[in-house]
Amino acid sequence: MSFSLPELPYSHDALQPYMSKETLEYHHDKHHLAYVNNGNNLLKGTEWEGKSLEEIVKGSFGKNAGLFNNAGQHYNHLHFWQWMKPNGGGAIPGSVEKALVDGFGSVDKAKEEFIQAGVTQFGSGWAWFAVKDGKVVVMKTPNGESPLVRGASPILGVDVWEHSYYIDYRNRRPDYLKAFVDNLVNWEHVEKMYTEAAK
Ligand SMILES: [Fe+2]
Repeated sequence: MSFSLPELPYSHDALQPYMSKETLEYHHDKHHLAYVNNGNNLLKGTEWEGKSLEEIVKGSFGKNAGLFNNAGQHYNHLHFWQWMKPNGGGAIPGSVEKALVDGFGSVDKAKEEFIQAGVTQFGSGWAWFAVKDGKVVVMKTPNGESPLVRGASPILGVDVWEHSYYIDYRNRRPDYLKAFVDNLVNWEHVEKMYTEAAK
């Protein structure tokens, strides 16, 4: 298979004021497109041509850094667009709420640890909720890495590369993370990935 850039599941201005049209024009139309194009070029002629995206991400990790970085970021961004929605951050579906309470004691504590992982990820990377050994855990990863290469299944990720927040929040990464959790998260997509991961 080759990589292709998906359409955003909403208009570029739909996440305002929490994420601007300008941010999505750069982040989706330019940054994600570059991962797709570079990934396709680097995939040609490798042993992973014809494999699924998840197989490419897991297989190239530690073996082909250029391909991994671009395929990993393609995977992360494919989901990132779906992990947000206009008027997001509302009620959490029951199965996910229960898993967060089981893992962290309360939903508030889970959100706090998720935000803290994003705040403390040094440099570019991602913060995550992931399912590992049947439990929901918080993780943070550098660059294009994800829970997929740490023996876990991602169910929610937030991009803490500066390209994701600098236009709207400048250096205020904690404010961006709080807005993401409170106003952008599409918990239905989280539930869908949780259901898959918990099988
Ligand atoms: Fe990004």
